[in-house]
Amino acid sequence: MTRFICISSGKGGVGKTTLVANLSTVLSKIGKNIVVIDANVTTPNLGIHLGIPLYPKNLQDVLRGDSHLYESVYEHPLGMKVIPSGISVEDLKDLNTDNLRKVFDILEGTADIVIVDSAAGLGREALASIESSDDLIVITNPELPAVIDALKTIKIAEEAGTRILGVVVNRVTGKKHELTNEQISSILDNVPILATIPEDKNVKEAISKMIPVVHHNPTSPASQSIYKLASLITGEKIDVPKTWYQKIFGGFF
Ligand SMILES: Nc1ncnc2c1ncn2[C@@H]1O[C@H](COP(=O)(O)OP(=O)(O)OP(=O)(O)O)[C@@H](O)[C@H]1O
Ligand SMILES: [Mg+2]
Repeated sequence: MTRFICISSGKGGVGKTTLVANLSTVLSKIGKNIVVIDANVTTPNLGIHLGIPLYPKNLQDVLRGDSHLYESVYEHPLGMKVIPSGISVEDLKDLNTDNLRKVFDILEGTADIVIVDSAAGLGREALASIESSDDLIVITNPELPAVIDALKTIKIAEEAGTRILGVVVNRVTGKKHELTNEQISSILDNVPILATIPEDKNVKEAISKMIPVVHHNPTSPASQSIYKLASLITGEKIDVPKTWYQKIFGGFF
C-alpha cells in the first residue's frame, strides 16, 4: 500500500519544497521507493530544488489530460521518482487541480511513499493536495503569522479527514523573539512537534547548487534534523550522519 504524505503550510515560503526535496532524498537513500510530486502547480519549484528545472512533460499536462502520467515521471539520480510541474505561464492554462485525486489513484501501489509538495494557503490548489493525501505534515516558522496560518491548515485537514502527523518548525535560530515549541504546539491545539530544523546557511548554499542539503552536506544541522524526521515518519531507525567532532566526542555528552 502506498502512503501519501502531504507537506503543507498556511503561509508561503516557510520551507515546504526544501523539506520535500530533502525528505525524499533521505528516504530514497535508505532504500524506500519514493515518488515526489510538485502539486504546487501555480508556483512550482521542486524541479529547481532537485536540479531538473526543464522537462518535456509535467504534471499540468497530466491534469489537463494532454499526457499520460508515466510520461511525466522522471528518475532522479538520488533514487526518487519526480513528477514535476512546469514553470512557464503557459503551463497554467485550463488547469483543474481536482484531477489530482485521479493522479493519486494511478500512483497507488507504485511506491512506498508519495510525498506531495503542496501550494501554500487554503485555496483549491492546496486543498486538492491535503484532501487527497493520507497524512499531513504542517510546516511553519517560529513566528506568529506563520503559526496562525498553520492552524487554519490543520483545521482544514481535520475537516477533510486527513491524518495530521504533526508540525515541523523550520528556520529556528533560538533567538528570544521566536515562539518556543511549547508555544507553537499550544497554539496548534497540541499537535505534536515532529522536528525542529535550524536556520542553516548550508540549506541556501545547497539550493543555489540545486542539490538537496542532505546530499550536499549530510552532517549540517538542518540535514541531521531531517534525518531524524525521516526516522520518525517511517518508524525505522535511520543513522544520522555525524560530524567528525560528534564521532569523537559524541559519547561523552
Ligand atoms: N532551514 C533553513 N535554513 C535556511 N534557509 C532556509 C531553510 N529552509 C528554507 N530556507 C530558505 O527559505 C526559502 C524558501 O523555502 P521553500 O521554497 O522550501 O519554501 P516553500 O514553503 O516551499 O515556499 P512556497 O510557499 O513559495 O512554495 C529557501 O529558498 C531557502 O532560501
Ligand atoms: Mg514551495
